Amino acid sequence: MHVLVTGGAGYIGSHAVLLLLEAGHQVSVYDNLSNSSPESLRRVCAMAGASPELFIGDLLDSDRLKEVMLNVKPDAVIHFGGLKAVGESVEKPLAYYRNNVVGTVNLIEAMECADVRRLVFSSSATVYAESKKLPLMEDAPRDASNPYGRTKLHIEQMLEDLAVSSGEWSIGILRYFNPVGAHPSGNIGEDPQGIPNNLMPFISQVAVGRRNEVKIFGKDYPTYDGTGVRDYIHVVDLAQGHLDAIDFLTHHKGQFVWNLGTGSGTSVLDVIGAFSRACGRQLPYKIVERRAGDIAEYYGDPTAARLELGWKAERGIEEMACDMWKWQSQNPAGYGEFEIGDYTNEDLNAYIKGIKDTLSSTNVVS
Ligand code: NAD
Ligand code: UD1
Repeated sequence: MHVLVTGGAGYIGSHAVLLLLEAGHQVSVYDNLSNSSPESLRRVCAMAGASPELFIGDLLDSDRLKEVMLNVKPDAVIHFGGLKAVGESVEKPLAYYRNNVVGTVNLIEAMECADVRRLVFSSSATVYAESKKLPLMEDAPRDASNPYGRTKLHIEQMLEDLAVSSGEWSIGILRYFNPVGAHPSGNIGEDPQGIPNNLMPFISQVAVGRRNEVKIFGKDYPTYDGTGVRDYIHVVDLAQGHLDAIDFLTHHKGQFVWNLGTGSGTSVLDVIGAFSRACGRQLPYKIVERRAGDIAEYYGDPTAARLELGWKAERGIEEMACDMWKWQSQNPAGYGEFEIGDYTNEDLNAYIKGIKDTLSSTNVVS
């Protein structure tokens, strides 16, 4: 199968591209590299022994998107491309609505143009309204509490409308819980810019000595040890869910929603404990005030994904911490800085395929 992956150079996308190539699929990536580096795809290519074709392009450039879609004519699209920082979305809501919502409208129009009607979309557990009824099921009430979450909610609703408007579509909405970890090789992983907002990347930078201590946002929550509880999911398990969704959509028309999580929650203290074991030393932490907007606890019910997709999270918190530590310790500065500058699409593909060893000029890829 030929799969077009938007945002395929990013954290979750690069893991999915690797699994797709390993499973023998042909892969094209559409990415503007605004939050990623071609280095991730170069490493994917080296590991898979097969290369994705990279199309540098913006989801907001509808002409380029249509041109690529008509050229590639994929059997399916996986749509990771988008902005994802909750705090930034509060400061720049229009940038989020434009990039995520308008970008998705453009993508769907380009797919219609090329008669491609199989789509897997990256949604988030953030679309669920706060609920005391746990685990969260796919039919739980939705209500996002920030602009980023609302873009996901609007896109979900748009995809529902699309499926109602025409019986030709096969659409899978995947609601991720908290993706963490890295490929067990340590070659690809998450490379956050600036100070990480999320817990695991922050802990990981404490472990590698880039930050002094973990700040635990509150120890007075009504949870098993007073700290926040989340459903952490290993990125490789998460990526596998996309392959399983595509298989399912090959045989089913309509619109489907699946939670991708482990089905159980882990506290902040237990995540720090797992990471301390992974890196071989007790990581320092301090209890501070609760973070505004945080809720005590949530985790999802992944039964629908198990029954319909045959998918199940295989890796627990110890493995998530070990693999994340391997990536962080082997790549203390992530992939290094990258600016797209004047690089052509050909330059970048030659680099990814190993035909060119470095990307020179003012840009640095380490
Ligand atoms: P990421 O930032 O690492 O990857 C996103 C990719 O999309 C990047 O390569 C970026 O360059 C690209 N991109 C962004 N805007 C684009 C545009 N306009 N045109 C073309 N490419 C564009 O993020 P990720 O963690 O891999 O997340 C992937 C998807 O999963 C996102 O849609 C995100 O909202 C969703 N998601 C992520 C999490 C998480 O915790 N990481 C949780 C739930 C949902
Ligand atoms: C956040 C996003 C959510 C996104 C998810 C991706 C918010 C409000 N929500 O969720 O939209 O889908 O990331 O993984 O930002 N914590 C600390 N110290 C830290 C960081 C976090 O104690 O330095 C605690 C938090 O209070 C929470 C837990 O760790 O209890 C997890 O936090 P985080 O990794 O930021 O994820 P979420 O808040 O669940």
